[in-house]
Amino acid sequence: ECIRVFSPATVANVNCGFDVLGFALEGIGDEIFLRKVPQKGISITKITGADLPMEASKNVAGVAGMAMLEFLNADFGFEIEIKKGIPIGSGIGGSAASAAAIVFGINQFLDKPLSLQQLAYFGMKGEAIASGNEHADNVAPAIFGGFTLIPGYDPFEVVSLPVPDDLFVTIIHPHIEINTKDSRAALPKMVPLQDAIKQSGNLAGLISGLYTSNYELIKRSLIDVLIEPHRKPLIPLFDNAKKVALEAKALGFGIGGSGPSMFALSKGEKTATSIEAALIDLYCKSDNKIDTIVSKLSKTG
Ligand code: HSE
Repeated sequence: ECIRVFSPATVANVNCGFDVLGFALEGIGDEIFLRKVPQKGISITKITGADLPMEASKNVAGVAGMAMLEFLNADFGFEIEIKKGIPIGSGIGGSAASAAAIVFGINQFLDKPLSLQQLAYFGMKGEAIASGNEHADNVAPAIFGGFTLIPGYDPFEVVSLPVPDDLFVTIIHPHIEINTKDSRAALPKMVPLQDAIKQSGNLAGLISGLYTSNYELIKRSLIDVLIEPHRKPLIPLFDNAKKVALEAKALGFGIGGSGPSMFALSKGEKTATSIEAALIDLYCKSDNKIDTIVSKLSKTG
């Protein structure tokens, strides 16, 4: 028996929620095929769509799967095939999607012994090898779908947030790679109190806006004073792109996770598509190649 799991691309941080907030897209993602085998551990038989390590202990999906099997004390294992649909190092949760898919798939095979929150925890163990740090703001929305909040890592907890009906995202992916480890190293260890207050006010405002479908409040809250200033120099035309997206009526614009992808949230598909057109126009005039995605936010995992 073989099962196929689809795991969506995700946007982490969402401006004001560094390491704690994320959402999932519809339609774009990775696929994993799993087959239960008597040999213990994870064996990766094939990877298409990206050049990634086949050795399970060096692969995010392999590490996540092995952590889960170890926890379950399993005396069997899985053969897996990975079909990458999300470019690596793009900032829309490529490594998280594979890690989420394998733990979800193993759980399906075994009649769901673990909760979604436990799956996010083991998915995070895999993702840590790609980013050098345990954070679950991509892996949690990949597993739960929609918007997720991680109120704490110790104890680890995931909360699903409501997704207003008309929320769409436009993704702009410049063809450069940014490694999450390097992008985290660029961040300061301490932040000014005034900035911390602004950021926590915006995070609270955004969550309140999601619960009440208050698009004006969502718009005012999609601001990042802590992380963006340190990361944007790595991203081609970031300030111009933000200006163009906001002029085209984006609710907010920012860096997807650790970049280089950028995202704009908007109310309605029409606005999301006109933001896409405006950004294509901007990048066409420069030497930077991009690709784009317009997607509704997923409601389920
Ligand atoms: N929260 C993480 C970061 C997401 O911004 O470093 C990247 O995987």
